[in-house]
Amino acid sequence: MSMSTRKRREQRKSERSASPSSSLKRSADTVAATMASAGNDENNAVMPRAVLESMQKNRARDVFSMAAFCLLPTVLIIVNKGFVDGDGVSVRNMDSGAMKILLLALFTSLLAYKTTIRLIPIVARRTLGKRNMYGLDINKKGTKMGEIAIPEALGLASGCAVLVALVVGRTLHTAFILRERKQGKLENSGESEHNAALATIGFMLFLGFVDDVLDLPWRAKMILPGFAATTLAQSYQGSTSIVVPHIFRENVRLVLDALDSMPIVRDILPTGVDKKSGLMDVGYMYIAFIWLLAVFLSNAINIHAGLNGLECGQSLVIASGIIALNVWSLLTDPTSDVVVGPHVFSLLLIAPFFAATVGLLKQNWYPSAVFVGDSYTYFAGMTLAVAGILGHFSETLLLFCLPQVVNFLYSIPQLFKLVPCPRHRLPRFDTQTGLLSPSKATETRYNMNLVTLFLRVFGKTTERKLCLRLLAFQVACVVFTFAARYVFIAFVHWK
Ligand code: UD1
Ligand code: MG
Repeated sequence: MSMSTRKRREQRKSERSASPSSSLKRSADTVAATMASAGNDENNAVMPRAVLESMQKNRARDVFSMAAFCLLPTVLIIVNKGFVDGDGVSVRNMDSGAMKILLLALFTSLLAYKTTIRLIPIVARRTLGKRNMYGLDINKKGTKMGEIAIPEALGLASGCAVLVALVVGRTLHTAFILRERKQGKLENSGESEHNAALATIGFMLFLGFVDDVLDLPWRAKMILPGFAATTLAQSYQGSTSIVVPHIFRENVRLVLDALDSMPIVRDILPTGVDKKSGLMDVGYMYIAFIWLLAVFLSNAINIHAGLNGLECGQSLVIASGIIALNVWSLLTDPTSDVVVGPHVFSLLLIAPFFAATVGLLKQNWYPSAVFVGDSYTYFAGMTLAVAGILGHFSETLLLFCLPQVVNFLYSIPQLFKLVPCPRHRLPRFDTQTGLLSPSKATETRYNMNLVTLFLRVFGKTTERKLCLRLLAFQVACVVFTFAARYVFIAFVHWK
């Protein structure tokens, strides 16, 4: 290292320790640090530093509790299924590489978490400080906190962190795990899926950031994800068959026979149902379904939003469901490969996403120090979609996302302008009580989304509680999905 470089580094170090934010943690863990480093000293005047620091502590406590709660099922699965002595399947799975995959997922997750934490103040400094990109917290309008300029589009930090972690993870996976297994000659090591995933997720991160900067019209927001989803659908190499439950097989066969005489319909419809397995190959219809799922999910997180922590919180819960499902399949399903294949791919994608979301949520949980922006919502929706689709459990993913489905269906009249749709469908904040109440689209009609519905059904509440209630509903849907999978498997074979 040259003398001048060393001198510059030392100078920067001493500047940092002399600056007012130096008493704060280096990781820019506090709102004060984020805001000071974003060059917005006015915010420090609005909120005393001690108040900001205590908010940050509460936020970190809440987020780590949530993350631990979400990961508990996965930890229990690993303890029960991974280390059981004498259980042939479990021991063989761990020995033959599952342990390496779990360690790799842990490593890339830590990398994504640390990178997100490092990038947040850097991105905030540029969006808020240099480009004046900020949002006002609408649910705190009329209070001091409602006057703070909050840096916007911080999803960029977590998105970049995940992309970096994915590239590093793939490199290590190829170099140390795949090569060791077959001297680098694996027939399908998932290269094309990996590249499609990177392209699709990168596309959506870019689109989200463009939206944050340029404020795209709704038409564009609906149409553009379709192009990203096409790349994803083209790379899909899994089965296009669905299982028809035993008691419906005969009826489905009769319908297919009846439609067989119609020329165009015959070409689109499946040829038949396999008598033994009940599998019916629906071909292009399945590809159309996963395309629609990807387009739907990238928009669905964005319209189930607007409360501090809701965008990241819902993604965290869904991601934890995907992690648990993948780990369960790796450790218990003797037919699933433990070092390569859909579940490994899905786990190595979703684990860093989960960790980056924890890093972002630490600043975005109530009361938010940063807003995640459309950069996060689009990127998160598509990452979840990629993990489910290329992990070959699209139907399960759709069930995990039941709150998003309900919110979308309920929103349709407003999305298609059959009912007026204001720019923001956020609740009304009462400065006297500090409670949120349902907001109206017109004099007589409430806004048609899940946030408003929860306020109407369960009554007025604080923003933090409302967000926790919506996240509890998300958790309930993930738990319900796991139960439904087992009931469905029993039903398929029920005669
Ligand atoms: C979508 C929703 C809109 C909702 C908005 C908030 C539809 C059709 N659109 O619009 O109803 O109001 O997301 O995310 O459902 N904000 C807060 N608190 C938060 C998060 C965001 O006040 O916790 C506000 C901030 O002013 C922020 C702005 O929302 O700047 C971001 O809105 P944006 O993501 O641009 O809205 P849309 O995605 O277009
Ligand atoms: Mg948005």
